[in-house]
Amino acid sequence: MKLTNKFDTRRSHRLIQFFLDRAKNWNANDRDFSIYWSMSHMITTAQIMRLLAIKRNLDADICAIAGLIHDIATMESGKTNNHAARALDYIAPLMKAYNESNFAKNDALKITDAEIKLLEEIIPQHSNKNETSANPYAEALKDADVIDRYLHGVEANESEMPRLLAVFAELGY
Ligand SMILES: [Fe+2]
Repeated sequence: MKLTNKFDTRRSHRLIQFFLDRAKNWNANDRDFSIYWSMSHMITTAQIMRLLAIKRNLDADICAIAGLIHDIATMESGKTNNHAARALDYIAPLMKAYNESNFAKNDALKITDAEIKLLEEIIPQHSNKNETSANPYAEALKDADVIDRYLHGVEANESEMPRLLAVFAELGY
């Protein structure tokens, strides 16, 4: 990938602000993971997605956005069960709500229909860590999720370990 001297991260930062605003209304108790964890993981997964996008020649902005919202069902409901599939209940409605919000005032800040479609394709797959998807964006998301959880001190399970080692090898570690 040819790097320019500045990365355009405006949309992802607006989306983070959109979810920080929503988090004010999330139930802070009765959650499988704290709001603090969800917020930390969403932001750092987005950064790892950018690194993988550069390495793999993918669109870094939509990669970052996928990283930000991949656990959208857990963030919104507080529950992790079946959260990858349940993301479909949230992706389109919330991306449209973001598009109509003050956080996305001009067209350049909005998420397009094609991007929503891509997010709806790859996010429901992200829990299938031991399966390989034909979609490179789906693979990047699984890889970024595994790496980010690992770097936050979460123990990698059997299905995550091969993926973790493969990505670190790809990155030259
Ligand atoms: Fe995750």
